[in-house]
Amino acid sequence: MYKNAFDCLVQGVYIVSSSIGDEKAGLTAAWVMQSSFKPVMLAVALGPTRRTAEVIEKSRKFSVQVLDKKQKEIAELFGYYSSRQIDKFAKVRWFESEKLKLPIVEDVIAYFECELVGKFESGDHMIYNGLVVNHKLLNPKGEPILFSMRDWF
Ligand SMILES: Cc1cc2nc3c(=O)[nH]c(=O)nc-3n(C[C@H](O)[C@H](O)[C@H](O)COP(=O)(O)O)c2cc1C
Repeated sequence: MYKNAFDCLVQGVYIVSSSIGDEKAGLTAAWVMQSSFKPVMLAVALGPTRRTAEVIEKSRKFSVQVLDKKQKEIAELFGYYSSRQIDKFAKVRWFESEKLKLPIVEDVIAYFECELVGKFESGDHMIYNGLVVNHKLLNPKGEPILFSMRDWF
């Protein structure tokens, strides 16, 4: 049963990652959307305390990865711990994306590589707008996780 109107907003559950030098950062994000059709762009809303946001600011690149229903544990790992405390990518199998060399979790349904082209403040979050420079569908039969606030917080 839904507790309030926000519970019914339909979103997915994604990994947003970035890297600079040897440092890899990534978090779980629900606030992800396509923000342009031509050229194709994706926007993500991140809180200012997120290490991943700091790394995106420096590297000016990020990935968006679509998690499968079977990957809820990965969503918990990336969503409940900060890259400041632990190296999350040391705990999962991952590979480097071909274009922007971003860390991608193995077995995600699909991923997008984005160059940061703009950002703006949105209340207590920052919206990062990325130009999609590469995208790949890895599992056409995958089933994305549907996000509802009541399941996670
Ligand atoms: C299901 C789920 C969805 C989340 N969505 C977002 C989001 O859209 N934006 C955000 O800034 N944080 C979101 N978070 C919280 C971050 O994933 C969390 O604060 C994370 O520990 C930050 O990691 P970092 O410091 O390594 O960047 C979400 C967490 C969960 C579990």
